[in-house]
Amino acid sequence: MPFHRFGFCYRSVMPALLIREFGQAAEVMELGEFPTRELAANELRVKLLASPINPADLNWIEGTYGTRPQLPEVPGTEGVGEIIESQSALFRVGTRVIFLSYAHGWQSQRIVSADDVLAVPNEIAIEDLAMLKVNPATAWRMLHDFVNLPAGAVLVQNAANSSVGRCVIQMARELGVITINMVRRAELCEELQLLGADIVCLDDEAGKQAALAFLEERGKKAVLALNAVGGESALRQLDLLENGATQVTYGAMGRRPLTVPNKFLIFRDICFRGFWLTHWLTQSSRATIALTYENLLEFVRQGKLEQPVDSAYDLSQFPEALRGLNAPGRRGKILFVPKHND
Ligand SMILES: NC(=O)c1ccc[n+]([C@@H]2O[C@H](COP(=O)([O-])OP(=O)(O)OC[C@H]3O[C@@H](n4cnc5c(N)ncnc54)[C@H](OP(=O)(O)O)[C@@H]3O)[C@@H](O)[C@H]2O)c1
Repeated sequence: MPFHRFGFCYRSVMPALLIREFGQAAEVMELGEFPTRELAANELRVKLLASPINPADLNWIEGTYGTRPQLPEVPGTEGVGEIIESQSALFRVGTRVIFLSYAHGWQSQRIVSADDVLAVPNEIAIEDLAMLKVNPATAWRMLHDFVNLPAGAVLVQNAANSSVGRCVIQMARELGVITINMVRRAELCEELQLLGADIVCLDDEAGKQAALAFLEERGKKAVLALNAVGGESALRQLDLLENGATQVTYGAMGRRPLTVPNKFLIFRDICFRGFWLTHWLTQSSRATIALTYENLLEFVRQGKLEQPVDSAYDLSQFPEALRGLNAPGRRGKILFVPKHND
């Protein structure tokens, strides 16, 4: 059923996944139609090629994310598309783009301002482009924006098998930075070590002791902790840090608050920071953003940045896609790849 939130006459509707109220994705998401219209100056019509399901999308649908959209709206933080109509002198039809503002990627096509996209090369695989904006950029910025990380420095991260975690491992390997990687499942150790992880430990007390022994052998502690979980997991990281080190919280997968004993502030001077890519994208210059993504594209071109894909679904298959998120042993991201009739 189409809807009429916008105050303009629309010329047709396009398939899209929609939410009309906040809640669990499986309960509130529906396949619907989103209005489309003639382009205004400086606008592009973009056919969506692929868009992943990220944890942030589920929070956005729940209404617990850092931004809360006016509903109804189309989810999808990131994605890649191809321009099929252009009212901008800077962008030609056929160019592939990623979205610098919220992508609304779970639909077949959308209209976007030319100011809100970045052209990306056609020779790079669609899946890599679809997953370029969020997790690789988050990993890259966290490795560069908080502490000095010379070769030989040590960082610790939890949820190390997540997409962000895998990006951190691969980028740190290139930078010569040593990574201590905490995970929930022992079977991940070998594959993360093949990716470049220096040590992989279970995210529990025994794992922390193994990480401490690894540090003792090297006579140093970590200068940076990357926290995507919170609660006890975040707290365990603090014992692996040297005095004055920084913990950056960027996710809350465990949905538990970080309660910090006073000693880490008084005696250890640990610095607690946060990172949000949305904030970085709105605060940074276009040149800084373009340079960051050029660096990331170069990693991808050289085969040095892999983000595994578990499976891909058409928009109409969204119930299966959502069920796949919680399937045991999921091997990577789940993508929406809309079918197009052209
Ligand atoms: N702040 C930012 O700008 C920013 C940007 C990108 C991502 N993020 C955040 O970073 C986190 C990872 O994102 P992603 O896309 O890389 O994730 P992902 O690939 O979907 O992986 C999810 C990770 O979270 C772990 N996990 C799931 N439930 C958990 C729980 N209850 N307790 C502890 N760990 C749990 C998973 O472990 P198993 O495999 O063992 O289930 C896996 O390691 C998310 O919180 C996301 O919102 C933030």
